[in-house]
Amino acid sequence: MRTCSDVVVVASAKHAAELSRRLDSKTFPGLILVEREAGEAIAAHELHGAALVVIEVDPDSPASIDRIARIQDTPGHAPVIAAIPNASVALVRTLVRGGIDDVIGLPFAPDELLEAALGVLTSRSVKARTETRLAPMIAVVRSIGGCGATSIATHLAPALAEASGKSAVVVDLDMQFGTVADVLSAQGRGSITDLLDAGHRIDDELIRSVTRTSEDGVNVIAAPQDIVPLESVDTDQLLRVLDQLRRTYGYVVLDLPANWTNWTLSSALAADAVLLVVELSVASLRQAKRRLDLFRSVGISRDHVAVVVNRIEKRLFRTINLGDVADTLHHPALASVALDDPVVGSAQDQGRLVRALHRRSAFGSDLAKLAEALLDGPLGARS
Ligand SMILES: Nc1ncnc2c1ncn2[C@@H]1O[C@H](COP(=O)(O)OP(=O)(O)O)[C@@H](O)[C@H]1O
Ligand SMILES: [Mg+2]
Repeated sequence: MRTCSDVVVVASAKHAAELSRRLDSKTFPGLILVEREAGEAIAAHELHGAALVVIEVDPDSPASIDRIARIQDTPGHAPVIAAIPNASVALVRTLVRGGIDDVIGLPFAPDELLEAALGVLTSRSVKARTETRLAPMIAVVRSIGGCGATSIATHLAPALAEASGKSAVVVDLDMQFGTVADVLSAQGRGSITDLLDAGHRIDDELIRSVTRTSEDGVNVIAAPQDIVPLESVDTDQLLRVLDQLRRTYGYVVLDLPANWTNWTLSSALAADAVLLVVELSVASLRQAKRRLDLFRSVGISRDHVAVVVNRIEKRLFRTINLGDVADTLHHPALASVALDDPVVGSAQDQGRLVRALHRRSAFGSDLAKLAEALLDGPLGARS
């Protein structure tokens, strides 16, 4: 039976025979040899539960290199050591960038194998111990264009940061029409494209180098400079980017595009809260209902969806009842946000936060309340 401390070595007949001659279960307990030629496929279940995989690589066989990529695409896969005869520097670099944990030579040298295995296993366990939980992520979605999703997303990130004392980032996923960097006047060249093009090279450093900062200190991942086709976004890569953002920042706020595609739904599913922005118009509420149906149909939990009613006019404040919106949508409304004209628009024209210019603005205090409501509600207990 496989135990979680097993080291699985996948090697061709020649190297496997040699290894088993030089190492046995006494000198290396938990060693499991899987005999397979270098280009031959290996099924995920054969590696399931392994603590470490050592796999033979034939530099001249694309199938053999592909085998490694497959292991690394399996969520929760074990660390991987590549065993390569006469590895070139270029190949080692490619493998390490692709996420290989270590490289050893072939034929196997028992000491080198043991040393590499111990090195990888100890560094993994240190990493596992220091690994932090992924930060909460909030996807802001609109019922209809212009209802205020971007205004709310850009102000929610700093409001969450202020309420929690943690950092926050707002990510403009409105790939074609995104305005987050504009309304916050977040200068710089970096954009989400840099992260989507980076493959497995996504790390804390890259994230920080691509992040722009607004005058009021809001961290921004900007939309692409040029319009990109929505279907060009690779869902797996985007999820990888979002994961790293959730390791780098304390809160991640997404401004999603109006169109629903595979990757927009996947990012909404990955979020801890989906914030649906509505206004008090028939068109907005009708679209909101359709969005709620869509969320239900793809399995986004009802508890994760929060409705926010934007642009509530002061004179209506007392008469408007969030319960009415809830009745119409068959979904509770978490909070409301005041129409604050021309304060919101003029702050955005200057690339500033409303609160930085108008300490007492209704919009600013409603956003602070929204952050509190999210922290007390769908984002769970404050930690
Ligand atoms: N509560 C509000 N009070 C005043 N103006 C607002 C409010 N919410 C949004 N706006 C304005 O409405 C316009 C559209 O908002 P925006 O956030 O870009 O919407 P969306 O991202 O949903 O298309 C912007 O000019 C913004 O300044
Ligand atoms: Mg917008």
